[in-house]
Amino acid sequence: MDESTIICKCEEINLAEIESAIQSGAHTFDDIKRITRCGMGPCQAKICSSLVREIISQSLEVSLSEIGLPRMRMPLKPTRIAALAGKETSSSVVSVFAESAPKEGDES
Ligand code: FES
Repeated sequence: MDESTIICKCEEINLAEIESAIQSGAHTFDDIKRITRCGMGPCQAKICSSLVREIISQSLEVSLSEIGLPRMRMPLKPTRIAALAGKETSSSVVSVFAESAPKEGDES
Protein backbone atom coordinates (compact mmCIF):
# COMPACT_ATOMS: atom_id res chain seq x y z
CA MET A 1 0.00 0.00 0.00
CA ASP A 2 1.51 3.35 -1.02
CA GLU A 3 0.54 6.94 -0.23
CA SER A 4 -1.84 7.15 -3.20
CA THR A 5 -3.81 4.03 -2.25
CA ILE A 6 -7.48 4.93 -1.96
CA ILE A 7 -8.78 4.01 1.50
CA CYS A 8 -12.26 5.51 1.28
CA LYS A 9 -13.60 4.67 -2.16
CA CYS A 10 -16.78 6.72 -1.81
CA GLU A 11 -14.99 9.99 -0.99
CA GLU A 12 -11.71 9.12 -2.78
CA ILE A 13 -9.57 9.66 0.31
CA ASN A 14 -6.09 8.19 0.02
CA LEU A 15 -3.62 6.89 2.59
CA ALA A 16 -1.58 10.12 2.58
CA GLU A 17 -4.66 12.14 3.57
CA ILE A 18 -5.47 9.72 6.40
CA GLU A 19 -1.88 9.82 7.67
CA SER A 20 -1.84 13.61 7.44
CA ALA A 21 -5.00 13.78 9.55
CA ILE A 22 -3.44 11.47 12.15
CA GLN A 23 -0.32 13.65 12.27
CA SER A 24 -2.62 16.65 12.79
CA GLY A 25 -3.98 15.03 15.94
CA ALA A 26 -6.81 12.78 14.76
CA HIS A 27 -6.96 9.72 17.01
CA THR A 28 -10.36 8.27 16.17
CA PHE A 29 -12.28 7.42 13.03
CA ASP A 30 -14.67 10.29 13.74
CA ASP A 31 -11.73 12.74 14.02
CA ILE A 32 -10.53 11.63 10.59
CA LYS A 33 -14.07 11.84 9.24
CA ARG A 34 -14.35 15.48 10.33
CA ILE A 35 -11.04 16.41 8.73
CA THR A 36 -11.20 14.45 5.47
CA ARG A 37 -14.88 13.46 4.83
CA CYS A 38 -13.71 9.82 4.95
CA GLY A 39 -16.75 7.73 5.86
CA MET A 40 -19.31 10.25 4.64
CA GLY A 41 -19.98 8.55 1.31
CA PRO A 42 -22.94 6.41 0.25
CA CYS A 43 -21.70 3.33 2.12
CA GLN A 44 -21.50 5.37 5.35
CA ALA A 45 -18.08 3.92 6.30
CA LYS A 46 -19.09 0.28 5.90
CA ILE A 47 -16.12 -0.24 3.56
CA CYS A 48 -13.47 2.10 4.94
CA SER A 49 -13.96 2.13 8.71
CA SER A 50 -12.03 -1.05 9.46
CA LEU A 51 -9.14 0.04 7.20
CA VAL A 52 -8.95 3.48 8.80
CA ARG A 53 -9.05 1.98 12.29
CA GLU A 54 -6.16 -0.32 11.36
CA ILE A 55 -4.16 2.63 10.01
CA ILE A 56 -4.79 4.58 13.23
CA SER A 57 -3.80 1.56 15.29
CA GLN A 58 -0.52 1.10 13.41
CA SER A 59 0.34 4.81 13.31
CA LEU A 60 -0.29 5.44 17.00
CA GLU A 61 0.97 1.99 18.06
CA VAL A 62 -2.16 1.21 20.07
CA SER A 63 -4.29 -1.92 19.93
CA LEU A 64 -7.23 -1.99 17.54
CA SER A 65 -9.61 -2.46 20.47
CA GLU A 66 -8.62 0.97 21.79
CA ILE A 67 -9.76 2.68 18.57
CA GLY A 68 -13.45 3.52 18.86
CA LEU A 69 -16.02 2.51 16.30
CA PRO A 70 -17.41 5.21 14.01
CA ARG A 71 -20.49 7.01 15.24
CA MET A 72 -23.41 5.98 13.03
CA ARG A 73 -26.30 8.24 12.23
CA MET A 74 -29.66 7.47 10.65
CA PRO A 75 -30.47 6.64 7.95
CA LEU A 76 -27.96 3.81 7.72
CA LYS A 77 -28.44 3.36 3.97
CA PRO A 78 -29.41 5.61 1.04
CA THR A 79 -33.11 6.27 1.46
CA ARG A 80 -35.62 8.10 -0.69
CA ILE A 81 -37.28 11.14 0.82
CA ALA A 82 -40.64 9.55 -0.03
CA ALA A 83 -39.77 6.61 2.22
CA LEU A 84 -38.85 8.98 5.06
CA ALA A 85 -42.16 10.81 4.54
CA GLY A 86 -44.05 7.52 4.80
CA LYS A 87 -45.26 7.63 1.20
CA GLU A 88 -43.29 4.57 0.14
CA THR A 89 -42.10 1.40 1.81
CA SER A 90 -38.35 1.06 2.27
CA SER A 91 -36.27 0.14 -0.74
CA SER A 92 -32.95 -1.58 -1.10
CA VAL A 93 -29.68 0.26 -1.64
CA VAL A 94 -29.29 -1.54 -4.96
CA SER A 95 -32.58 -0.16 -6.28
CA VAL A 96 -31.76 3.42 -5.22
CA PHE A 97 -28.42 3.27 -7.04
CA ALA A 98 -29.90 1.44 -10.03
CA GLU A 99 -32.49 4.15 -10.56
CA SER A 100 -29.89 6.92 -10.43
CA ALA A 101 -27.49 5.18 -12.83
CA PRO A 102 -27.56 6.41 -16.44
CA LYS A 103 -29.56 4.15 -18.72
CA GLU A 104 -28.20 2.81 -21.96
CA GLY A 105 -28.87 5.35 -24.68
CA ASP A 106 -29.17 8.30 -22.24
CA GLU A 107 -27.50 11.45 -23.51
CA SER A 108 -26.15 13.46 -20.60
S1 FES B 1 -15.70 3.81 1.44
FE1 FES B 1 -15.66 5.39 2.87
S2 FES B 1 -17.69 6.10 2.95
FE2 FES B 1 -17.75 4.48 1.57
